[in-house]
Amino acid sequence: MDGANDSVVTEFVLLGLSASWEMKVLLFLFFFSFYVGVVLGNLFIVFTVVCDSHLHSPMYFLLANLSLIDLGLSSTTAPRMITDIFSEHKVISFPGCMIQMFFVHVMGGTEMVLLIAMAYDRYTAICKPLHYLTIMNHKTCISFVVVAWVIGVIHAVSQFVCIVNLPFCGPNKVDSFYCDFPRVAELACTDTDWVEDVVTANSGLISMGTFFLLIISYIFILVTVRHHSSAGLSKAFSTLSAHITVVFLFFGPCFFMYVWEFPTLSLDKFLAILDFVVTPLLNPAIYTFRNKDMKVAMKRLSRKIVSSKDSS
Ligand SMILES: *[C@@H]1O[C@H](CO)[C@@H](O)[C@H](O)[C@H]1NC(C)=O
Repeated sequence: MDGANDSVVTEFVLLGLSASWEMKVLLFLFFFSFYVGVVLGNLFIVFTVVCDSHLHSPMYFLLANLSLIDLGLSSTTAPRMITDIFSEHKVISFPGCMIQMFFVHVMGGTEMVLLIAMAYDRYTAICKPLHYLTIMNHKTCISFVVVAWVIGVIHAVSQFVCIVNLPFCGPNKVDSFYCDFPRVAELACTDTDWVEDVVTANSGLISMGTFFLLIISYIFILVTVRHHSSAGLSKAFSTLSAHITVVFLFFGPCFFMYVWEFPTLSLDKFLAILDFVVTPLLNPAIYTFRNKDMKVAMKRLSRKIVSSKDSS
């Protein structure tokens, strides 16, 4: 971090979401209840999958991993965003800002790769059912999870090294409720066009690439199912439509943040809220309330808890 020596900026001020007092109360209640839902919902999924041996299958292992990432992604920004709503002076230290930026991208990058792994898992289960267990064996699952983390870290580090060495000497007001690349890079007192290009090439490419890969795999699955039966099609369609909704909600904001930058609109910071409190809540909602196995497992779990209470 030798570049930090030239900088005079030691802290950043987050401008947050400007709103009237009534609006702040509303935002507070909304974010707070969503974040509580994210924490409880995702921990619940991890707990259910780990404890119930009926759910020890590739799909649920990946789901539990996704829940952990969702929890992590939300926790990088949401708690601060919530406590900042009513504070007048939203200061974040220089290292704090860099660390937040780093972890947002580690979690975000990992989540994208995990979503691909989950789509591949569904593709194998639906299109190659006879080979499912040989293809998605335990080793493959572990590899997917490891590769997801490695890509997440590489993705974050490659952008982090660009920005941490920039000289920050003047303005320090970040026009958002958290630190992220385009918004922080534009504060550097040097020509940052190349940094923006790196961010667009890196975050933009990984998010749009993942998005199209996912959409293509969903189309593949639907086309395959169509050839088999129409009953299967409607079932697959209802499952996949839930996934596709999440994919649009997750990648839509990325598009506005990194690809189609429109700094005058401040649309990006409102859309970012979707990625930090809304989609991390949707995954548990979709997988617990729309999934038969998960519902059965939840019943089994509650029965176990009740009977262990009775016997003690
Ligand atoms: C994440 O995935 C790996 C590989 O399938 C699995 O062994 C591990 O238990 C999963 N983690 C959780 C929390 O379920």
